[in-house]
Amino acid sequence: MKNRIFLNSPHMSGNEIKYIEKVFESNYIAPLGEYVNKFEESIKNYIKSENALAVNSGTAAIHLALRVLGIGNGDDVLASTFTFIGSVNAILYQNANPVFIDSDNKSWNLSPELLEEYLKVCEKKPKALILTHLYGMCADIEKIAEICKIHNIYLIEDAAESLGATFNGKHTGTFGDFGIYSFNGNKIITTSGGGMLVSPNKNWIEKAKYYSTQAKEPFLYYEHEEYGYNYRMSNVLAAIGVGQMEIIEERVSKKREIFNWYNENLKDIEEINFMPELKNSRGNRWLTAVTFENTSYEKIIKVLDEINVESRPLWKPMHMQPLFKNSKSFVDGTSENLFKKGLCLASSTTQTKNDVEFICNTIKKNCN
Ligand SMILES: Cc1ncc(COP(=O)(O)O)c(C=O)c1O
Repeated sequence: MKNRIFLNSPHMSGNEIKYIEKVFESNYIAPLGEYVNKFEESIKNYIKSENALAVNSGTAAIHLALRVLGIGNGDDVLASTFTFIGSVNAILYQNANPVFIDSDNKSWNLSPELLEEYLKVCEKKPKALILTHLYGMCADIEKIAEICKIHNIYLIEDAAESLGATFNGKHTGTFGDFGIYSFNGNKIITTSGGGMLVSPNKNWIEKAKYYSTQAKEPFLYYEHEEYGYNYRMSNVLAAIGVGQMEIIEERVSKKREIFNWYNENLKDIEEINFMPELKNSRGNRWLTAVTFENTSYEKIIKVLDEINVESRPLWKPMHMQPLFKNSKSFVDGTSENLFKKGLCLASSTTQTKNDVEFICNTIKKNCN
């Protein structure tokens, strides 16, 4: 039997281990050091952002953004419903209330039309929006950023899955007040675990740094006026990130190539629809995501598993989660329908064209 084909395998460039050795030579085996700074610089240069803060997860980055923006007790925070729980957990950490907005079929991401409609009818004005660019594909970000501006709502872009995706040439994560990225083991590049917070506002990033390092006041001894967190990234893991950033563009190209292989193989099957890419955008195609009109996705997961290939259902929308049964939502069934029909296909950058053909043959044989 072939080795298992995973949904997304970590894929090192080869330099990561050399940089880790350098960290060991320096003995800065700590949540600070040369490679933390270098990793922040490489992200700033790549996405063209003025300010960046390396932290220990994407979830921590979102939490810091909410804290810096003063989101707290009882505040309403809008969020994409079609996302992973890591997008929205921090709303609960801040004792705020999530309000979930549905996707549209054009992007599978948050619908600007529903967002506008909600803002017309809502009784309580939300303070912020956490917008996810799902599976590495751009939301209709220019429109959504404009709506947030008009309504005076802070915009936090959850670009955890979309490093390298651009809309009109501008990187996801750089349209809003804050952007966040994740370097969890399954992302397009990884530090095994980690995140990055970016913002055009230098003071906000400095404040986030203060909160991320236990909110120490600038005294010789330890003085605290506020509570903080232990959220900074380790220098050892940042060394992996520096090596990974050297090949980010290669990885985006390969992800897009994998998508094209799937598309070529499956495009004639009416049963199957691919996650769309908005005009003027370049997604990173982190995971190739599809829906089946009549075939059950459970069946496809099972037959792929039998040939030792991993696949996964699409994220279950947040408004359908028991955790959020009492939360507000503004939905029209779009994400629920996608969830009921959809699947993420194995998309590791280590995959070959033959691997994709092998997977597609099994899918074709088992489609209704
Ligand atoms: C859309 C989305 N948001 C947030 C996160 C949280 O990132 P992390 O796992 O680094 O905390 C993830 C990934 O795990 C994600 O996919």
